Amino acid sequence: MSKTVVLVYSGGLDTSVCIPMMREDYGFDHVVTVTVDVGLPAAEIKQAEEKAKMLGTEHYTIDARQEFVDEYIFPAIKANGDYQGYPISTSIARPLISLKAVEIAKKVKGDAFCHGCTGKGNDQFRIEFVMRALMPDMPIIAPMREHTMTRTWEIEYAEKKGIPIGQSKDKIWSIDENLWGRSIEGGHLEEPDYAPPEEIFHWTKNPVDAPNTPTEITLTFDNGVPVALNGQKMNSLDLVLKVHEIAGTNGVGRVDIMEDRIIGLKVRENYECPAARVIIPAHKALEDLVCTAEERAFKMLVDQQWGKLAYEGLWYDPFKDDLEAFINRIQTRVTGDVKLRLFKGSCTVIGRASKYALYNEDLASFDSKTFDQSEAVGIVKTHGMQARMYRTVKD
Ligand code: ARG
Repeated sequence: MSKTVVLVYSGGLDTSVCIPMMREDYGFDHVVTVTVDVGLPAAEIKQAEEKAKMLGTEHYTIDARQEFVDEYIFPAIKANGDYQGYPISTSIARPLISLKAVEIAKKVKGDAFCHGCTGKGNDQFRIEFVMRALMPDMPIIAPMREHTMTRTWEIEYAEKKGIPIGQSKDKIWSIDENLWGRSIEGGHLEEPDYAPPEEIFHWTKNPVDAPNTPTEITLTFDNGVPVALNGQKMNSLDLVLKVHEIAGTNGVGRVDIMEDRIIGLKVRENYECPAARVIIPAHKALEDLVCTAEERAFKMLVDQQWGKLAYEGLWYDPFKDDLEAFINRIQTRVTGDVKLRLFKGSCTVIGRASKYALYNEDLASFDSKTFDQSEAVGIVKTHGMQARMYRTVKD
């Protein structure tokens, strides 16, 4: 009986090597490749298609960009999606990529999944969680993890099997890209004290070469998500792409952090996330205007928990739904305009307005007539009462 394996396929060396391996070493006669477009360069999609054709697989390219924005990026905006200073991007794309592989596996009646993740990274957790949650009985094969292959071995194997290698031979950086972020790893970049060379950045101008005059923009939010740029209503995907371009031109979006991976490894990571570095601070600024002090403090904790779950790829965890119930309720007031100034690598909020603002000009102003300052006298006297009492009783 014919056996079918569904391979999550990027067109890169690792996943290409998996194709002949699935046939020769794992006994599958039918290999189905799935490439999910979450904002990849068009050339990469084309290359994956061509390679798949050459290697004789049944290939599917799925344009999931709109879904990625609406169902993954937008929830991340509402939660100010961050993990240790990283506007989570690779992590939120993986569950969607895996979901699409599941959909294809159901369609072609696949017998197993295959992916190219190694045993050191986070992606194995994210991809396999979704596969197991949605198709619990499907075996999952991860050849890179099983055999811990070296790059040299892979290149030799690829040459033997007639897999085109292209620029893979002298590729120094390991790059992962989607609409919300670009991650650059590998080579010397793994050393925490190695300054990132300019060549790793493709989306953001070097702030030194960015325009000498600031760019000011206005983002309009409705229910916690951006709906218009400079007063012009836009489709969500177009809006993210436009902000990406403006931010990148102004050198906004470079991130260099130490990251604690799911497995516990501490690694150095470089990212470019221009759109996220503008939209999230804008969203947060609006929340700060419309939420009470208690809501702001609690939302920070909720956001942090949400960010951790999303980082770990636990997309269908009930705790995530619980957190989102709170997040979404708050978002009904996160409506209004935020003005930002982008200038040579920095992005600063310079104004915010909302019909739900918990701000009253007269109350806050220094020469307020409605706020009778003498009323504060009594309240001030009781402030810190227990702390003052503590000083009198302690030895
Ligand atoms: N460390 C990041 C994450 O787990 C990005 C990993 C992306 N992979 C890469 N080959 N650059 O979300």
